[in-house]
Amino acid sequence: MTAVRPETTALPATDTSFPTGFVWGAATAAYQVEGAATEDGRTPSIWDTFSHTPGKVRNGDTGDIAADHYHRFRDDVALMKDLGLKAYRFSISWPRVQPTGRGPAVERGLDFYRRLTDALLEAGITPVATLYHWDLPQELEDAGGWPHRDTAHRFADYATLAARALGDRVGMWTTLNEPWCSAFLGYGSGVHAPGRTDPAATLRAAHHLNLAHGEAVGALRTALPSSAQVSITLNLHQVRPLTGSPEDAEAARRIDAVGNRIFTGPLLDGAYPEDLLRDTAHVVDWDELVRAGDLAEISRPLDALGVNYYAPTVVSLPADGAASTRNDGHGASDHSPWTGSEQVAFHLANDDLTAMNWSIDASGLHTLLTEMSARHPGLPLMVTENGAAFDDYVSPEGRVEDPQRIAYLHSHLDAVRRAIADGADVRGYFLWSLLDNFEWSYGYSKRFGAVYVDYPTQRRIPKASARWYAEVIRNNALPA
Ligand code: NOJ
Repeated sequence: MTAVRPETTALPATDTSFPTGFVWGAATAAYQVEGAATEDGRTPSIWDTFSHTPGKVRNGDTGDIAADHYHRFRDDVALMKDLGLKAYRFSISWPRVQPTGRGPAVERGLDFYRRLTDALLEAGITPVATLYHWDLPQELEDAGGWPHRDTAHRFADYATLAARALGDRVGMWTTLNEPWCSAFLGYGSGVHAPGRTDPAATLRAAHHLNLAHGEAVGALRTALPSSAQVSITLNLHQVRPLTGSPEDAEAARRIDAVGNRIFTGPLLDGAYPEDLLRDTAHVVDWDELVRAGDLAEISRPLDALGVNYYAPTVVSLPADGAASTRNDGHGASDHSPWTGSEQVAFHLANDDLTAMNWSIDASGLHTLLTEMSARHPGLPLMVTENGAAFDDYVSPEGRVEDPQRIAYLHSHLDAVRRAIADGADVRGYFLWSLLDNFEWSYGYSKRFGAVYVDYPTQRRIPKASARWYAEVIRNNALPA
């Protein structure tokens, strides 16, 4: 198996190269690419229910077929091999493995991941598995979902089943992807499944996601060989005050609390931050929510931390209370009017925007990586997602030219390289995404792929950025 934990060596800032053994990858997620929504025993997840609810997803799009990766994974692995990818980050669909969220595993569901990982290993590509990328079995939501403590225990059981079945082939595991989105977009603003808008449920979900992660780390350590690496992926908000005013500093503190430290506190420091508990004391009874032993469970040591970065989050605290909140999972975020942040306004960092209307600012990635590495020495970082959506189209000659994506990737990879030169321990980079796919509430209207997907035919067309990325991987360096 290809090593995914190379020794990093600090690089001179003027160089364009990456450390030897740097892990070059691309990422996807089950619901966004697999399709085959009712095959081999799979039952609905909260995203099936949500996407089939009129008005929730743009154009009424669903993940029923998506990029049909479930049936085309062999071609997709061949594509990855052509691009020279060293690693592929995918997620396992919980309702495929354990349709009701309880009980024994469905072997036919697991078989898909056996076939996929076998094909990857044969192609010399390291599989990196995420256990939860937002597709909670609907039955568990019906029983209370993430605000309900039992869901955390169910997740640990599922982790055991997946690890027992795939632990001989998968050496790198991630428990949760972006739990902030699961809690705050799923139960707070309601723009993600299950679409609830309940402040207390949001914080309860956040704690139970943390607990689920901790219990799953324990389960994975028991079920996997000791060489296995276990991590979590967070969408850490790179929060910036709009001005140097004390009010804007206060806005940044509040958003840093509910956007970042609600996870990094218990996960990495073993406690919820005092200011977060204070800000949200009127919403939830933390003493009742956090039980004895929870924090020890949640703060189990990790082998790496996955960081997803797209855009910075610029905030201010207007004295007149005329707050404008925006509703994205990245960059500008809706934290719902209950966290003590109801006065907080979100701003673009600049007018250089992707198709998501997220500002392009690679300096935020450099800051995030250097700050996290300095704060948590000994914890290797992986950029588990970075990329951009643009309005790609196929030219009459059958090509997809995406110079803006190349520029985005170039500047962000340079930020990663500079962070390493400045001492950050960054072991790898996963481009989001390998393929165009189902972009949650935006449906198929946003294309993040390095590879274009023509949905009516499911034809794959590597974009110019895919060829550019392949060259970077081949040289282990950016173009001069
Ligand atoms: C983060 C999520 O993990 C992924 O599923 C999503 O498609 C990208 N961000 C882009 O929004």
